[in-house]
Amino acid sequence: MANSGQKVVLITGCSSGIGLRIAVTLAKDEKKRYHVIATMRDLKKKEKLVEAAGDTFGKSLTLHPLDVCSDDSVSQCINSVKDRHIDILINNAGVGILGPVESISIDQMKKVFETNFFGVVRMIKEVMPDMKARRSGHIIVMSSVMGLQGVVFNDVYTASKFAMEGFCECMAVQLMKFSVRLSMIEPGPVHTEFETKMMADVAKMEFPGVDADTVRYFKDVYLPSSIDIFEAMGQTPEDIAKCTKKVIESSSPRFRNLTNSLYTPIVALKYADETGGLSVNTFYNLLFNLGPLMHITMSILKCLTCSCLRRRTVSPN
Ligand SMILES: NC(=O)c1ccc[n+]([C@@H]2O[C@H](COP(=O)([O-])OP(=O)(O)OC[C@H]3O[C@@H](n4cnc5c(N)ncnc54)[C@H](OP(=O)(O)O)[C@@H]3O)[C@@H](O)[C@H]2O)c1
Repeated sequence: MANSGQKVVLITGCSSGIGLRIAVTLAKDEKKRYHVIATMRDLKKKEKLVEAAGDTFGKSLTLHPLDVCSDDSVSQCINSVKDRHIDILINNAGVGILGPVESISIDQMKKVFETNFFGVVRMIKEVMPDMKARRSGHIIVMSSVMGLQGVVFNDVYTASKFAMEGFCECMAVQLMKFSVRLSMIEPGPVHTEFETKMMADVAKMEFPGVDADTVRYFKDVYLPSSIDIFEAMGQTPEDIAKCTKKVIESSSPRFRNLTNSLYTPIVALKYADETGGLSVNTFYNLLFNLGPLMHITMSILKCLTCSCLRRRTVSPN
């Protein structure tokens, strides 16, 4: 149970990756400001979290089952919290999907939206009325750079994050009237099981109904570039946990929080040309014309990220 003065933080998807690291970082806060309710849909996966939490487990960090795709699971979890009092809700649970759209069934796409979009909406609907009544609270949503800029062959994942960004843009205004804050964290690539799970799914893909050229562009052009990008630009779950802690602890938390300054110019392209041509053409050229020069392009992008652009990101340091 939370001590008086401690903020109650509920986090979804803590079995691995970013969620696990945020839970442990907050539970180990030197000033003991947080009581963390770390949740996961399958408690059989708790070992990594328990180990990382160390002696905070059962003290400043407690574990609850929660599947964001189930109305019953969400309401049971929130009802089990004392007075349903949650100061900070961190919507982290998410799934990825990658590949040519022709090879992804509508049911597979719905599952992604069920977690990445409706899962977040379900959590916010459950927690928001109490926050509004108390006139306090902070909702954090783990979005992505892909919630701001589409990336080829990530069509469905990108769409799910765009949907959530749109939802949050609307909610943030209403919630502000009730002194409830909403912030989105927008990481670029992060080295977690997310990447491993997606690559494992891709290895099993058979691409039914996809023409040979598209399969070739996906496997021989997109995938190697994507691996390059992860290697050159990937952050760690610790980086994202530090950024999230900064957002939570800010006296005036920002609505949007890119965590990786290397992505600032990419996102800026979209706003620099209202016709959309600049970003579409740049992505086309990066992928299809500059494929072999991707490493060099990465380095140039790093140099282009000047200090004024860096200010637009929330740095982990
Ligand atoms: N890794 C990246 O490159 C990256 C970049 C930008 C944004 N993000 C976002 O960051 C968030 C965390 O991803 P990650 O990188 O830490 O990946 P991860 O290690 O795969 O973690 C995803 C977590 O979500 C959980 N989850 C999935 N479906 C769930 C459900 N229905 N109910 C409850 N939990 C569920 C998973 O639980 P199980 O173990 O049970 O599957 C896991 O704990 C996601 O929202 C993702 O979109 C990731």
